Amino acid sequence: MEFAQITHPAPVPGETRAQAIADPGFGNVFTDHMVTIDYHADRGWHDARIGPREPLVLDPACAVLHYAQEIFEGLKAYRHPDGSFALFRPHVNAARMNASADRLAMPHIPEDLFVEACRQIVLKDRDWFPTVDGGSLYLRPFMFASEAFLGVRPAREYKFLVIASPVGNYFKSGVPAVSIWVSRDFVRAAPGGTGAAKTGGNYAASLVPQAEAIAKGHDQVVFLDAVERKWIEELGGMNLFFAFADGTVVTPPLTGTILPGVTRNSLIQLLRDEGLTIREERYSIDQWRRDAESGHLLETMACGTAAVVTPVGKVEGPEGSFTIGSGGPGQLTGKLRERLVAIQRGQAPDPHGWVM
Ligand code: COI
Repeated sequence: MEFAQITHPAPVPGETRAQAIADPGFGNVFTDHMVTIDYHADRGWHDARIGPREPLVLDPACAVLHYAQEIFEGLKAYRHPDGSFALFRPHVNAARMNASADRLAMPHIPEDLFVEACRQIVLKDRDWFPTVDGGSLYLRPFMFASEAFLGVRPAREYKFLVIASPVGNYFKSGVPAVSIWVSRDFVRAAPGGTGAAKTGGNYAASLVPQAEAIAKGHDQVVFLDAVERKWIEELGGMNLFFAFADGTVVTPPLTGTILPGVTRNSLIQLLRDEGLTIREERYSIDQWRRDAESGHLLETMACGTAAVVTPVGKVEGPEGSFTIGSGGPGQLTGKLRERLVAIQRGQAPDPHGWVM
């Protein structure tokens, strides 16, 4: 599909942009352009275009505003040492968006169209790469039901958009390891629900427990399973890995209630490359505490596109607080982060063909 190119009448002036990209934080600053593609049940995807980033005009009866038919993705573009730009495993994000679409009764977007949309915005907004160390251009592809209709059924009209945001660290820099609050009163997802889909509702449901975590002085909330309230699932927006003294690593399995993270999947491969045994199996909050206290557990890491690989230092659970290792960044966490980032940034060989 051809993308119509709509000229921006007034892009952000260079000096203002330079200030904005010097230290953008996460999700505060947006580039000049956006991609839009329309869908109608009778026509399929049509009218792909890239033009000025601007407010959307929506009918107040538009289905997403009432029944939350919405899905999104997050992926980063990196500037490589040779001056080229790279996307990391964009086809995996495209496939996951279609898996989310299945759960939310939304249409698939052809994977190549998804990837081309990402490519177009990176090329158009190439001057927006942040200059801060460790910076990247975070892409946010999303799809929502745009049909004006108040009956409860899958909409017949959708929009797919991609916006871009220059980003630095997700967590405040200078934080050596994040601190986690175990939610007692709230769960993120139940069996048969939408936990494995990247849909706004899952994040909306995490806001109150996340606020509770912050109020208690922590960085992130961790959710337990909805049935037994015992098994560790994931953080508000990141997967977890546990590394033990015997050289094994555990991460919760994809049982339908946690998000199948692209970083999670990449770390499993990198751990195998290191010759480590990685098991996708359930791990309980009580065991987490016992293993941390006995010293059998060396490290816990949180991972995601936004957070990359971040060490977890402290946990406040139902039975009180415990510290993991020294409470600071562990060796394996640091090594994995370095390996992943070096591949993403074109500073190391890419043995699995992840970089596009
Ligand atoms: C990402 O890591 O890309 C996400 O979508 C999670 C969110 C916490 C920013």
